[in-house]
Amino acid sequence: MKVKKIKEGIYWVGAIDWNLRNFHGYLTQRGTTYNAYLIIDEKITLIDTVKSNLKDEMLKRISDIIDPSKIDYIVSNHVEMDHSGAIPDIMRLAPDATIITCPNGEKGLRMHHFQDYKYKVVETGDKINIGKRNLEFVLTPMVHWPDNMICYVPEEKLLFSNDSFGQHLASSARFDDEYPFDMIMLEARKYYANIVLPYSKPVQKEIEAAKGLDIEIIAPSHGIIWRKYVKEIFSEYIKWASSVTEKKAIIIYDTMWHSTEKMAFAIQEVFEDKGFIAPVISLQHNHMSDIMTEIITAEYICVGSPTLNKNILPTVAAFLTYLQGLAPANRKAIAFGSYGWGDKSIPKITEYFENSGFEIIDTFKVKFIPTKEYLKNMQETLNEKII
Ligand code: FEO
Repeated sequence: MKVKKIKEGIYWVGAIDWNLRNFHGYLTQRGTTYNAYLIIDEKITLIDTVKSNLKDEMLKRISDIIDPSKIDYIVSNHVEMDHSGAIPDIMRLAPDATIITCPNGEKGLRMHHFQDYKYKVVETGDKINIGKRNLEFVLTPMVHWPDNMICYVPEEKLLFSNDSFGQHLASSARFDDEYPFDMIMLEARKYYANIVLPYSKPVQKEIEAAKGLDIEIIAPSHGIIWRKYVKEIFSEYIKWASSVTEKKAIIIYDTMWHSTEKMAFAIQEVFEDKGFIAPVISLQHNHMSDIMTEIITAEYICVGSPTLNKNILPTVAAFLTYLQGLAPANRKAIAFGSYGWGDKSIPKITEYFENSGFEIIDTFKVKFIPTKEYLKNMQETLNEKII
């Protein structure tokens, strides 16, 4: 339970959740951290807190540096309980502390903690002096919830970015030069695809605001802190937020008697012949949050299901519901599937596609089992439609 110095007088005092495997439906196979930061200055300032079940871990780390009752300010960058959950514990120890948050933050904290704490409400551009340092605030509503904001310390070239730039990654390493780079980037991509993706327009605004700042360190509220690869994560965020895709088609399916599966692999051949990366992913064996990590850079999304009881398989329905909520922009889509006596799966899948705003390129259905001739015709048709 060691603290970690971020800069002289600034410490990571968060908590490591090694055992978390489900973050509202997102498979967090590497756990996560809740990052809280302590700034020792004339005003002792805590940036965010942790999930309440790990409050003792945070309090132990704070106590190794300073008596928690001496905290003057708690900056609450985000109301969600993985960051504000331990505010009541800090406020019990430091009842005179002031919570610095945005207008939606104050409203949200009151509705979560039901306490009449002392608040200082800030807007974009506001600065608060804490001694040798200043805190500068930019409101970033909907870079996850309406209450998100980021906090910049110009004297340290340090950005506390809260949810953005985070990763669900439990580790004893705190910095990006202490952990395998590819793994951090993969988890950052998964995090973006599963948490931040629907808020890509607000992220673009945040990136614009952050571009004007001189940043040496990005300290997010989950996972590894960026200091060596700040430019790299920024450039990936620009791509993800603007829906830049690769020559990639992702083919996702479930199957009953392998007919839909045969169609999936036939579709893959067409894409591969045209030079696309084209993974075929079974929903029986892959978690939808891992599939989203692939989808974020895919130009084509192909989804297949046989008809089951006038509907689609429940695995496919769950995946399409999840996909529709995350709503990746500018995607082309193909629906496919087999049926026995009522061809109902294609209209169901295309309804999800339409609700997601995808451009439907084509649909393919087959009764019972696709013959070689059917698959060949399907491939020829598809071949003409893929550019
Ligand atoms: Fe990490 Fe939106 O909370």
